[in-house]
Amino acid sequence: MTTLNDYSPEVRAEVKQVREVVSNLHEQLIKWNLVVWTAGNVSQRLHSADLMVIKPSGVRYEYLTPASMVVCDLDGNLVDGQEAPSSDTASHAYIYRHCPDVYGVVHTHSTYATAWAATGQNIPCGLTMMGDEFGGPVPVGPFRLIGSEAIGEGVVETLKKYPKSPAVLMQNHGPFTIGKDAESAVKAAAMTEEVAHTMWAARQLGDIIEIPQEDIDKLNDRYQNVYGQH
Ligand code: 13P
Repeated sequence: MTTLNDYSPEVRAEVKQVREVVSNLHEQLIKWNLVVWTAGNVSQRLHSADLMVIKPSGVRYEYLTPASMVVCDLDGNLVDGQEAPSSDTASHAYIYRHCPDVYGVVHTHSTYATAWAATGQNIPCGLTMMGDEFGGPVPVGPFRLIGSEAIGEGVVETLKKYPKSPAVLMQNHGPFTIGKDAESAVKAAAMTEEVAHTMWAARQLGDIIEIPQEDIDKLNDRYQNVYGQH
């Protein structure tokens, strides 16, 4: 078995840094009320080697530390760690292998997003912030069992049809989000829950007014390229 000692000092230094980043970001899932007990997981891919750092499976958030994070290769094989990796490791690895710009993946069971997933419905694009963040509706992906790369395949397949969305609501399961790093993917998970909640409330009040695609494209372009500090 390949171990971390087979990698260069540069790679080992990045592993150390990413273990800290990934461990700390799990606190954000709790902070934003996106997970309960041991549900959900965060990973980040390394830039210096084809490796990723992911949460150990079934360990309570209070007990997660940088040292307890698990290092795997992009086929999901264990490279370093005391604990068994997340049950979604093979799916995170599949996403990294097929989406070269993605360096962060997050999964949650956040309540409103998962409710949309349980009904198999895309969240329609009825908010400017959805145009900004998702470039359209938040799409539903297929039902897939947990424990293999099947979820990752479903995420990648769905994103081909919705290339601007950083989130897929896996049917009957919950959101999987992506980003340029784990922090961006956590942000996408928080935004997914926010719009899922608002659009659920909107549905209770009446019919959704969907934003025309032409305006969604303008919103998305401004938010992605002009908004914020440059
Ligand atoms: P892990 O604790 O194995 O990451 O599982 C959590 C989960 O939500 C599986 O879908």
